Amino acid sequence: MRNSFNVALAALFLSVLAVAANADAGPLDSPGAHKAMVCSACHGFGGNPPSKTVPTLAGMDQVYFKQTITAYAEGKRQSPEMEPYAKYVLEFGVDEIAAYFAAQKKTASAKPKVAPK
Ligand code: HEC
Repeated sequence: MRNSFNVALAALFLSVLAVAANADAGPLDSPGAHKAMVCSACHGFGGNPPSKTVPTLAGMDQVYFKQTITAYAEGKRQSPEMEPYAKYVLEFGVDEIAAYFAAQKKTASAKPKVAPK
């Protein structure tokens, strides 16, 4: 009895996965999106940071992104914050993560604030 329940549960789970896989592609569906989640703690969602002390990654050129990540990982550009994350990016797929950030739009909050007139 218990086994057939588990089989039914597994079948249900698989059908949910199948439906999810067929849904239209959304902003979180690119392979880099999930890998980039960890970056949002500092760089903001989609690479638009909440403060100007952390650089914007949204819309960043992919070649520049890869060069910078490599420089951090090798210690040529020094940042105690970025070095471990640069190594993470190189390990988990710099191309996918670069493509994800290049495809994000910069939002108004990422621009310098201008005092209202
Ligand atoms: C703990 C906070 C933190 C996290 C998490 C973090 N970063 Fe950073 N990142 C920084 C800071 C601070 C800088 C600026 C460092 C400097 O002075 O070079 C930076 C700089 C960068 C730069 C260089 C930007 C430029 O304009 O040259 C890139 C690219 C970058 N981060 C990518 C990432 C990616 C991709 C992730 C996720 C895997 C990530 N970061 C996670 C804090 C963080």
